Amino acid sequence: MKTNADEVQSVKYVKVGTYEYSRFEKIHNVVFKKSSKASYLVAKEIADLIRSKNSKGEKCVLGLATGSSPIRVYEELIKMHKEEGLSFKNVITFNLDEYLPMNPSSIHSYHYFMHENLFNHIDIPEAQIHIPDGTISQEEVNDYCAAYEEKIAACGGLDFQLLGIGRTGHIGFNEPGSHYNSATRSITLDQLTREDAASSFLGIENVPKKAITMGVGTVTNAKRIVLLGWGHKKAEIIKQTIEGEETAQIPATYLQDHPNTTFVLDTEAASMLTRFESPWLVDTVEWTAPMIKRAVVWLCDKVEKSILKLTDKDYNEHGLASLIAEKGSSYELNIEMFNQLQHTITGWPGGKPNADDSNRPERKSPEKKRVIIFSPHPDDDVISMGGTFDRLVQQGHEVHIAYQTSGNIAVSNADALKFAEVAMDFLPQGEELEKLKAVVEGINQKKENEIDPIQVRELKGLIRKRESIAATRYFEVPDAQVHFLNLPFYETGAVKKSPLGQADIDIVKNLIAEVKPHQVYAAGDLADPHGTHKVCLDAVFKAMAELKSESYMDDCWLWLYRGAWHEWEIHEIDMAVPMSPDQVLRKRKAIFFHQTQKDGVLFQGEDLREFWVRAEDRNKKTAAHYRKLGLSDYAAIEAFKRFDY
Ligand code: F6R
Repeated sequence: MKTNADEVQSVKYVKVGTYEYSRFEKIHNVVFKKSSKASYLVAKEIADLIRSKNSKGEKCVLGLATGSSPIRVYEELIKMHKEEGLSFKNVITFNLDEYLPMNPSSIHSYHYFMHENLFNHIDIPEAQIHIPDGTISQEEVNDYCAAYEEKIAACGGLDFQLLGIGRTGHIGFNEPGSHYNSATRSITLDQLTREDAASSFLGIENVPKKAITMGVGTVTNAKRIVLLGWGHKKAEIIKQTIEGEETAQIPATYLQDHPNTTFVLDTEAASMLTRFESPWLVDTVEWTAPMIKRAVVWLCDKVEKSILKLTDKDYNEHGLASLIAEKGSSYELNIEMFNQLQHTITGWPGGKPNADDSNRPERKSPEKKRVIIFSPHPDDDVISMGGTFDRLVQQGHEVHIAYQTSGNIAVSNADALKFAEVAMDFLPQGEELEKLKAVVEGINQKKENEIDPIQVRELKGLIRKRESIAATRYFEVPDAQVHFLNLPFYETGAVKKSPLGQADIDIVKNLIAEVKPHQVYAAGDLADPHGTHKVCLDAVFKAMAELKSESYMDDCWLWLYRGAWHEWEIHEIDMAVPMSPDQVLRKRKAIFFHQTQKDGVLFQGEDLREFWVRAEDRNKKTAAHYRKLGLSDYAAIEAFKRFDY
């Protein structure tokens, strides 16, 4: 099925009272297609509150959060200050938390974050800003925290509390086990929380173990609470928080008791709520083709049967009576659905020449297609679609690979040093040697947490380039068809990137205009508002939109694969490319060429498995799911979704 990028979620942003909960939900929530629109509306609610307090001559007391979730809200508030004259002179802020120990001037401090992302750009008096002090000693911390509480109380309590949610279910840094009436205090961070912070600290060993946080009681005393949740990786915890039992193991569930809380979510963060995952359990649904596909796959999982074994009774007993009523009987519906899934499977991702293509995911002509595979980092191509990539080349298509970023920050100093020293040992004395010496010195003299000097970054980028070329040569792609775009937004040297700019879009556009592809593959991590994959995808979307009037674009189909972290759901898949055991091994070998990304990469996240293991597991899981539904039994399957740009 095709999806429309601009389709807008129908649920409006409304406060408690005007929204009808589904019987599964215990917290009011609103869902948006785009986190940008949602962030604007949250900023607007805050701005309205500030203005209304101001008109009454009152102070407005805000509880603020850090992290990736609120960044866009702060951007909107800054915009409102600059363009609409929104003043923050009557605003008093209390931040939720700060790492311990933490110097306020450190780039990792929440103090720095708040000034960088909000306070430096608005007219709030410095004396009205409160952020827990990460330099406080262990002896003083209890008194300090009690005084923080008193200050909030002295200001009349929080009028509005902005929250994000951690994957442990923490709000602020109230980790699992926190009491519902806990106050501001020092805590020990959960391991998962530290892992999530590891990439911005350039390694988990640099993440502090403790923090000061407002308590659950402090937060839930706020008159109004808005919690932001973006992206797929929040989906599981959002479901447990909104639909699960209230429990100290998920402190955010305490918000179920708060009378004026709204969760503002994007579609990916909300995707596991019953209302979205199995809407037929909540309300009457319109049985569109995608909805039917989803329901049948869901039912198979629920009753653990293959499609062709589903009975009328299975449908009726699991809230799908209306579907059977509409379709007549399970017999016809099962066959229809079986065929539909069967037709997603093809060993010819570039289309099968001389075949009837009426039920195939790709067109048969032109027989030899020009293809561009966009890969956000130099390795996503082989990790996420190595099997399909291999087939496309072997089936004679002109395959171009475009590595969108240099990926230089993910090369360890030890690896860079190894390459630089080998080159120094090998080369005669000369100018080149001076450059290499600068690299070695740069690495050896670099202080902890400092960004790499330019020569070091250049070398790290080159290492990834050569690893990529080794992999593309293994798949027999001519070097001239391998493009290193080095998109400028990525080249900050730090984990935090610049926003996507026209210069990035133009580079992508130029390549598309040069190749005039029939197929474009891109990493379709649609949500993740700040991740590199999303920015790279936006670059492709924008470039394709700007080129849309070119005649060659009429023949260009966009296929989305998923990045290293998760896979398309079965009901979302439009093309499933199976792999034989041999092809699985070829893909594994192609991934192995990316040697600096093996054996404990710098940005591992919580999944400690190597990329090739994750990729194989994921592809095997998709194949197993197809098999369970009653389709053919393959060793592995790569999945794609067609996108209507
Ligand atoms: C931040 C805070 C945390 C974050 C949460 C989500 O001040 O207290 O609870 O809100 O860890 O972080 P992001 O938004 O980065 O996913």
